[in-house]
Amino acid sequence: MAISKAIIVFPLLCFLSSTISILCDPYPLVCNEIEKRALLSFKHALSDPAHSLSSWSAQKDCCRWNGVYYHDITGRVFQLDLLNFGLVDKVSPALLQLEFLNYLDLSNNDFGGSPIPSFLGSMQSLTYLDLSYASFGGLIPPQLENLSNLLYLSLGGVAPLGKLEPRPLYVKNLHWISHLSSLEYLSMYEVDLHREVHLVESMSMLSSLSKLYLGGCELDTMSPLLGYVNFTSLTELHLYGNNLNHEIPNWLFNISTSLLQLFLDYNQLTGQIPEFLGQFKHLEHLSLGYNSFDGPIPSSLGNLSSLVSLFLNKNRLNGTLPSSLGLLSNLETLEIRNNPLADTISEAHFNKLSNLIFLDMSSTSLIFTVKSNWVPPFQLKHLWMSSCQTGPNFPTWLQSQTSLQDLDISNSGIVDLAPTCFWKWASHIEVQIDLSDNQISGDLSGVLLNNPYIDLSSNCFMGELPRLSPNVIVLNMANNSFSGPISHFLCQQLNGRSELEALDLSNNDLYGELPLCWKSWQSLTHVNLGNNNFSGKIPDSVGSLFSLKALHLQNNGLSGSTPSSFRDCTSLGLLDLSGEIPQSLADLTFLNRLNLSYNQFRGRIPLSTQLQSFDAFSYIGNAQLCGAPLTKNCTEDDESQGMDTIDENEEGSEMRWFYISMGLGFIVGFWGVCGALLFKENWRNAYFQFLYDIRDRVYVAIAIRLNWFHDNLRRLLVSETHH
Ligand SMILES: *[C@@H]1O[C@H](CO)[C@@H](O)[C@H](O)[C@H]1NC(C)=O
Ligand SMILES: *[C@@H]1O[C@H](CO)[C@@H](O)[C@H](O)[C@H]1NC(C)=O
Ligand SMILES: *[C@@H]1O[C@H](CO)[C@@H](O)[C@H](O)[C@H]1NC(C)=O
Ligand SMILES: *[C@@H]1O[C@H](CO)[C@@H](O)[C@H](O)[C@H]1NC(C)=O
Ligand SMILES: *[C@@H]1O[C@H](CO)[C@@H](O)[C@H](O)[C@H]1NC(C)=O
Ligand SMILES: *[C@@H]1O[C@H](CO)[C@@H](O)[C@H](O)[C@H]1NC(C)=O
Ligand SMILES: *[C@@H]1O[C@H](CO)[C@@H](O)[C@H](O)[C@H]1NC(C)=O
Ligand SMILES: *[C@@H]1O[C@H](CO)[C@@H](O)[C@H](O)[C@H]1NC(C)=O
Ligand SMILES: *[C@@H]1O[C@H](CO)[C@@H](O)[C@H](O)[C@H]1NC(C)=O
Repeated sequence: MAISKAIIVFPLLCFLSSTISILCDPYPLVCNEIEKRALLSFKHALSDPAHSLSSWSAQKDCCRWNGVYYHDITGRVFQLDLLNFGLVDKVSPALLQLEFLNYLDLSNNDFGGSPIPSFLGSMQSLTYLDLSYASFGGLIPPQLENLSNLLYLSLGGVAPLGKLEPRPLYVKNLHWISHLSSLEYLSMYEVDLHREVHLVESMSMLSSLSKLYLGGCELDTMSPLLGYVNFTSLTELHLYGNNLNHEIPNWLFNISTSLLQLFLDYNQLTGQIPEFLGQFKHLEHLSLGYNSFDGPIPSSLGNLSSLVSLFLNKNRLNGTLPSSLGLLSNLETLEIRNNPLADTISEAHFNKLSNLIFLDMSSTSLIFTVKSNWVPPFQLKHLWMSSCQTGPNFPTWLQSQTSLQDLDISNSGIVDLAPTCFWKWASHIEVQIDLSDNQISGDLSGVLLNNPYIDLSSNCFMGELPRLSPNVIVLNMANNSFSGPISHFLCQQLNGRSELEALDLSNNDLYGELPLCWKSWQSLTHVNLGNNNFSGKIPDSVGSLFSLKALHLQNNGLSGSTPSSFRDCTSLGLLDLSGEIPQSLADLTFLNRLNLSYNQFRGRIPLSTQLQSFDAFSYIGNAQLCGAPLTKNCTEDDESQGMDTIDENEEGSEMRWFYISMGLGFIVGFWGVCGALLFKENWRNAYFQFLYDIRDRVYVAIAIRLNWFHDNLRRLLVSETHH
């Protein structure tokens, strides 16, 4: 028993197994012949397209078989560790012959929706059983009740990450669980439990239960969770992504001394956040986001001295932000985005937050009033304060932050000059900088921009265009007062190969001819130079932009015809010289307000249920626009003026451009972190890594599958895979 207890502890396990394999080498064991044959038949019943089991050959010493661990003295198999082996098809009952097997990990394989084999219930020596993310489906066999020695049981997670979900696992009831009285770890992520109404009753028998993961289990009322709660050793309780729609039940208080993690986010929980949560002395992670909690954030949370992360995003929390939160000296993550809080916050709110690395106060009505010489106790990596009143003065305290990866202070009421030293500091921000929708001014002609995503749109920046480092991928400087020719910018000496994909310089005062230097910007897919005062011809070298998908040049003084070199731009989807309404707008179903009045739009309004549902006043002042809902009928002439659409299938890319031009804040805010992840592979990894730090991988996977994300994410994915 001592050994089997140790087995659930991973580091120990690794140590143990490596010790054993070291022992294996100098003293090759003769492994038990029956077990060896059993393993070979297990192998033959499977498909092994990844050749993970190629070391399993009758000729080879079984000590050298991948994933198989033998006891050095008895020569009997005690552990099968086949996690992520890429195995497919069928689990053979030959495993039953491994009498001493106490550790079986088949997670992250693909058993194609077949049921969990009921014979596993007869493997009574098992203490550790992991069948998660292995595409098992159907009813979980109640025979598992016979595994009375189990300490660790993980059944959740339907498909391996990145695969489509087959039919889900479900239970009729959990009576069988109550027999697993030694269980310490139980994970049933995404197992459909909605038929079970006596959840707590069954769980109550698990007096040693420490970790209970029931995320995404279709639990729709708290009633299964009512009952006498006596699992007093519970340290982690995950119930996120269900449909729970009650207040937080009082019995939670009964586990207040043991609990370290409480994840209740992505439900429909209502009422107030109970004061008693302040008494969860050891709580490290509290996640209540994406619910309907109403009323204030209880100041008792300031007593959670062990708290590392607090997620309260997207609720209806109103009132003040308790300054007691400033006492949480271990806090690394504070997310209160999207709550109607109304308060003036000052230095005191951050007094002891020396470990804070992630701060999201976006879309709260908080007013940030810290002194300009404030030196915060923290070094943030992520700061999101969009639509949070930070101005009118430029937040100079930002420059004390030397490890920032994300900075979003869009729409924060700043009416000020950005200090010159700001730009040198900002060039070290690793991922994105969003200053859009403020009235920040400054002459950027001497500045070098260096961040991958940059949104400076809708401000008062002026002077000639700044210089770029090759790291910039998206640059939005629309709606400013940049002036002068564009030739310096485009013909600048780049210190490497540019990664620039999207460039928006529309609505500025740029003038002069378009230069010939487009060849150095081969990554460009989207360019908007509309509403400036460019003149002359479109140079042939624009045609060398092989990846170009959309080029907007409307409302300039450009003359001449489309260069013939454009036929080389094989993926060009939209060439917008005159201001037509892009067809892709017709696909947007989430718009509820659109006003395109007083532009120079012309041609037919694209047909869609949405665009025609706006009244004619949305299009007023575009003399050359025609078609429903306007009364003006289109003539043949209008039709021929329609978009120069070369490939209708490229609407997807135009969609993406639409999102990009709506601002990075939109992407990050609306799509959540996950939307941003899709943009660039290596950041995706970085973000997932970051998320792993605070939650686990499974958590992210479930968050992605949640309905809230689902539709929107799919839309983006569709547009991404379109090309
Ligand atoms: C559990 O094991 C007992 C014998 O140990 C057996 O009689 C019984 O059928 C098993 N239960 C299930 C559900 O397989
Ligand atoms: C928990 O309560 C159940 C009855 O609901 C009881 O059978 C079990 O023994 C109790 N466990 C402990 C550890 O008190
Ligand atoms: C909570 O614990 C108290 C005693 O400490 C007990 O009387 C009460 O029934 C428990 N509540 C639940 C829901 O288990
Ligand atoms: C924090 O705990 C102390 C001592 O237990 C208590 O007096 C105080 O009311 C608590 N603070 C809050 C804000 O609940
Ligand atoms: C918070 O919202 C609730 C419910 O809408 C309301 O009754 C309460 O007055 C609000 N509190 C504040 C401080 O606005
Ligand atoms: C451009 O910026 C100004 C000033 O910030 C703002 O008032 C205006 O709405 C912006 N226009 C667009 C089209 O974003
Ligand atoms: C645009 O440029 C022309 C000269 O090319 C100039 O005459 C005109 O005033 C400019 N318009 C604006 C609005 O700056
Ligand atoms: C769009 O804006 C114009 C001018 O700002 C206004 O006259 C018109 O009524 C607006 N249309 C709608 C549908 O709000
Ligand atoms: C537009 O065309 C319809 C028929 O297609 C016709 O009935 C209508 O009178 C026309 N309207 C105008 C303003 O020409």
